[in-house]
Amino acid sequence: MRIVVTGKKGQLAQSLLERAPAFDATVIAIGRPELDLADAGSPLALLAAERPDLIVSAAAYTAVDKAESEPALAHAVNGDGPCALASAAADLGIPVIHVSTDYVFDGSKSEPWAEDDTPGPVSVYGASKLAGERAVLAASPGNMVVRIGWVYSPFGANFAKTILRLAGERDVLRIVADQTGGPSSALDIADGILAMARNVRDEPQRADLRGIFHMAPEDTATWADFAEVICAWLAANRGRHVTVERIATSDYPTAARRPANSRLDSRRLAAIHGVRMPPWRTSLPSVLERLI
Ligand SMILES: NC(=O)c1ccc[n+]([C@@H]2O[C@H](COP(=O)([O-])OP(=O)(O)OC[C@H]3O[C@@H](n4cnc5c(N)ncnc54)[C@H](OP(=O)(O)O)[C@@H]3O)[C@@H](O)[C@H]2O)c1
Repeated sequence: MRIVVTGKKGQLAQSLLERAPAFDATVIAIGRPELDLADAGSPLALLAAERPDLIVSAAAYTAVDKAESEPALAHAVNGDGPCALASAAADLGIPVIHVSTDYVFDGSKSEPWAEDDTPGPVSVYGASKLAGERAVLAASPGNMVVRIGWVYSPFGANFAKTILRLAGERDVLRIVADQTGGPSSALDIADGILAMARNVRDEPQRADLRGIFHMAPEDTATWADFAEVICAWLAANRGRHVTVERIATSDYPTAARRPANSRLDSRRLAAIHGVRMPPWRTSLPSVLERLI
């Protein structure tokens, strides 16, 4: 199975490259400068040259706060770019797994969000990602959208890496304790996406394998919980003791609003694709070992 993933240095692209051999898949990562999603040109020729069986649309403008001051660029990369990609994939007759976000929701629900809940993004980033989802789903009924959240990994910029850095500089970390979500290892997400790709290849006639899926671990956390577990690991494994002070979102103003409840209900993915993410508390230590 040949899979093209957009984004070269991104957390998910790097994770797909690492995990592909376990699924007997070949992953080809394409990104800037060959593929710039902000450029409205069609990537058809570029994709055709790689002869993929499936495309994972992972590249995105992911700077959530910066997007508030660059809405046109965020919409070009996260909305128009995936639209052009999905159109080219449809011309080639191959499916797209488009990666999206918990930030398409407004966070107001008290339960985890299901796939058929109504999105209501509260940020430019969330709105731009929702535009991308809709364009990819409109391009072909064979496409899939996978919503994920709170990604950490051994690669690129992420919360776990930031906490490790800050823990080396400060004795007390002030971390938001009133936003809840699902910390997700990009390596686990890569496993899930590769399993979905395999299912689609093995049973191409099954319509239920297509559409929107949520992919998150069952154990949830606040950012402060997440930081506390990282700091507990640091204390146990490196003898470094750092305290987490739990603060409110209002104590840490950011340019973009974020949903208070980012939890995703992943039962549909488990029931239809047989994919369940491991608990984040289980996956975290091996990533911290690589990050430290
Ligand atoms: N990170 C999270 O917490 C999170 C949460 C929910 C959903 N997601 C979604 O998950 C997916 C993967 O996220 P990630 O964490 O792997 O992202 P990431 O580490 O920030 O990487 C983003 C990738 O997109 C590429 N990119 C940015 N602008 C581009 C453009 N104009 N043209 C082509 N490529 C461009 C970057 O390329 P360069 O290397 O050239 O900069 C980079 O490879 C994204 O769709 C994101 O929206 C992420």
